[in-house]
Amino acid sequence: MGFLFLGRNAALQAGFVVLLAVARTCSALRKGQRYACQAPSLNPLSGCPKHTLLIDASSANSSTEKNVFSTIQSAVLSLPHDNSTQYILVLPGQYTEQVNVTRPGPLYLLGQTASPDSVGSNGVEVLWHQATGTATTGTLDNAYTSTLTIAPTLNSSLTGAGPTGNTVPADTPFGNTDFRAYNLNFTNDYLPYSAGPSLALSTSYANTGFYHCSFKSYQDTVYVGKLANSYMRHCEIAGQTDFLYGFGTLWIEASTLLLRSCGGGITAWKGTNTTYANKFGAYIRRSAVRKANASLSSIAGKCALGRPWNSQHRSIFAQCDLDDSIRPSGYVDWSATDPRVSNYTFMAEYADFGPGWNLTGRLEGNVTRVLGESEWEMFDGPGKVFQYFRSGRAGNTGWVDWSA
Ligand SMILES: *[C@@H]1O[C@H](CO)[C@@H](O)[C@H](O)[C@H]1NC(C)=O
Ligand SMILES: *[C@@H]1O[C@H](CO)[C@@H](O)[C@H](O)[C@H]1NC(C)=O
Ligand SMILES: *[C@@H]1O[C@H](CO)[C@@H](O)[C@H](O)[C@H]1NC(C)=O
Ligand SMILES: *[C@@H]1O[C@H](CO)[C@@H](O)[C@H](O)[C@H]1NC(C)=O
Ligand SMILES: *[C@@H]1O[C@H](CO)[C@@H](O)[C@H](O)[C@H]1NC(C)=O
Ligand SMILES: *[C@@H]1O[C@H](CO)[C@@H](O)[C@H](O)[C@H]1NC(C)=O
Ligand SMILES: *[C@@H]1O[C@H](CO)[C@@H](O)[C@H](O)[C@H]1NC(C)=O
Ligand SMILES: *[C@@H]1O[C@H](CO)[C@@H](O)[C@H](O)[C@H]1NC(C)=O
Ligand SMILES: *[C@@H]1O[C@H](CO)[C@@H](O)[C@H](O)[C@H]1NC(C)=O
Ligand SMILES: *[C@@H]1O[C@H](CO)[C@@H](O)[C@H](O)[C@H]1NC(C)=O
Repeated sequence: MGFLFLGRNAALQAGFVVLLAVARTCSALRKGQRYACQAPSLNPLSGCPKHTLLIDASSANSSTEKNVFSTIQSAVLSLPHDNSTQYILVLPGQYTEQVNVTRPGPLYLLGQTASPDSVGSNGVEVLWHQATGTATTGTLDNAYTSTLTIAPTLNSSLTGAGPTGNTVPADTPFGNTDFRAYNLNFTNDYLPYSAGPSLALSTSYANTGFYHCSFKSYQDTVYVGKLANSYMRHCEIAGQTDFLYGFGTLWIEASTLLLRSCGGGITAWKGTNTTYANKFGAYIRRSAVRKANASLSSIAGKCALGRPWNSQHRSIFAQCDLDDSIRPSGYVDWSATDPRVSNYTFMAEYADFGPGWNLTGRLEGNVTRVLGESEWEMFDGPGKVFQYFRSGRAGNTGWVDWSA
């Protein structure tokens, strides 16, 4: 927002400033408005912002109303490719589809629910089944497997290979500046075990926020790709192998990471050299790491917090409650024959606790950095790690909903 010079008509202009500020807050949907829109009611859209689109799986072939769709993707495709703010309300049900968001303007996806503060009560599941690199699937880029994708172009969403991954064309614009999802589950159920990359979320060149959402798969569940900023709060993420991976910046707060077995590590980051000091990495704060269910007791002491996808991996588990699934060393090398560890590798913990926290084991393993307060300080909040597109300036958090 620009500045207004307070001259002779200061009072008038001050009033205008307030109006602008209000308009801006409104478009971001305050908590009360979100609750009103999400609450089940006879007319589902009552309480929602004007022009909210409705997704109703049972409406296929029957609805004549322009704002009612039977799939999320058909509604997304109906939206203008511009900077306007748009809302979509999804009625409970299972939606078997891939959702791709390329538009730059704010887009808020809301799941209808009577319990907007409980991921466990979510009634919407968006489901896809795809993996890559298996005997039956061949070798597509990982991007093609994802249930939900937020990226301006296909090329920007490709994982690629090698130490720096896919080269994104230099003139690629930034994608969505403010994507949010509330009370939605995203699942990729290709097979009930690691069988190649199988993404539930893929986000690149975009700012994306997830609140009371779940992401389930076994391998590479969440991909936070190049120049992506992603914030998750009160979410649940389930996986087995490298299930938080990418190049961008991911901040997870007050959430649960569920281990469905062990493989690789929880985090697998590929750091990138930039002309500015970047803070790319995965930051998991005040969250819990748990085996997915009690019958997985055999994984005790075996699962790794992460491993270096390249030697510039950065991830930090801070103030997290770790169950006994975590191995004494915490993090591990990439593999015995290809460790990928150098003085750039930053696989760290700050003030973790619980049965999976073992200081003796961490020091003996010599791969996990145990941070003191002063080392943690430069990363200790989303405002310090979310950077602006290309400039690398910190404080890119206007799209984060702190109230959800
Ligand atoms: C919608 O119509 C198509 C074509 O007539 C049909 O194949 C499909 O089963 C219908 N879907 C529903 C949900 O009724
Ligand atoms: C959206 O806004 C940005 C910056 O404010 C501008 O550069 C861009 O052209 C706009 N995009 C569209 C599709 O209007
Ligand atoms: C959504 O995910 C949560 C957390 O795993 C689960 O408790 C809930 O049953 C799921 N709902 C649907 C409809 O899948
Ligand atoms: C989403 O994008 C992937 C490639 O990233 C593509 O294969 C898929 O067909 C797209 N899905 C939809 C619904 O547009
Ligand atoms: C993506 O862009 C890069 C850089 O321009 C190019 O080399 C590559 O061929 C593109 N990949 C695809 C699949 O279009
Ligand atoms: C526990 O989780 C694992 C991994 O997802 C699954 O294979 C198994 O069926 C689950 N067991 C129970 C009893 O839910
Ligand atoms: C980044 O720069 C460092 C230092 O020059 C170098 O050791 C490392 O290989 C580079 N990493 C990548 C991914 O280019
Ligand atoms: C890593 O070590 C090299 C010399 O071996 C040094 O030039 C470089 O600055 C170090 N980088 C970091 C991040 O410590
Ligand atoms: C902690 O780690 C040490 C060193 O690896 C190991 O001997 C010990 O059994 C571990 N303690 C627990 C409770 O796992
Ligand atoms: C590994 O041991 C060396 C030598 O004692 C030490 O300088 C380094 O900090 C240790 N690395 C980690 C991650 O603990």
